[in-house]
Amino acid sequence: MPSPSQKARALEALHKEIRKCRRCPLWATRTQAVPGVGPPDARVMLVGEAPGRQEDVQGQPFVGTAGRLLDTLLSSVGLSRGEVYITNVVKSRPFIGPPPGHNRAPTAGEIVACRAWLDDQLRIIQPEIVAVMGRVALEYFFPNRKISEVHGRALAHDGRIILPLFHPAAAFHRQELRETLKQDFLKLGQLVRARSSRRSSRARLAQAAPPMKRKERSRRAQNTPG
Ligand code: URA
Repeated sequence: MPSPSQKARALEALHKEIRKCRRCPLWATRTQAVPGVGPPDARVMLVGEAPGRQEDVQGQPFVGTAGRLLDTLLSSVGLSRGEVYITNVVKSRPFIGPPPGHNRAPTAGEIVACRAWLDDQLRIIQPEIVAVMGRVALEYFFPNRKISEVHGRALAHDGRIILPLFHPAAAFHRQELRETLKQDFLKLGQLVRARSSRRSSRARLAQAAPPMKRKERSRRAQNTPG
């Protein structure tokens, strides 16, 4: 398991690579790429679709109107932006029309070109819970699932929990989704708390157990997967 400082160095190097990325034509029209923000050892990762205009200007994900709603939803369940890692599937802003243009959904080609960056972020950060916001982020993990059918349900994927959520921006077009989003964020809060209490009881058990002899420790290390 890499130490927090190893993770920090790996993530910083990855962010540098993402800022230089030219794997799809979006590099030519962006102000800057938006790699992601948050602690390199965050236990919770939030994944959106792609940067919008504000994000493109500031170089940070979710800093526009959808971002403000996201902050409110996070704090309603006792989480802050500072303790989660936030990123998008696509790291550069897709838009149409003459600059500044209008945000648009990323194309399949842009999503494929960007895919490896999110793979790397997951590999480095190793979050326990990934909240995927909207269709594009859900499809990264579950290409055949629909957000309207699985939102608010914890799904297992590669040893971690994926929690599908509606994209906060959807609540601006469909008011009724605000309540759904609130309820689904409650689920996120519950998952985080359940994981934390599991960790503390494990730590308490480890403290209470008598120290393991060296021979026994090495025997277990050889037999235990991962
Ligand atoms: N919408 C997204 O999907 N990502 C952002 O960073 C901002 C808005």
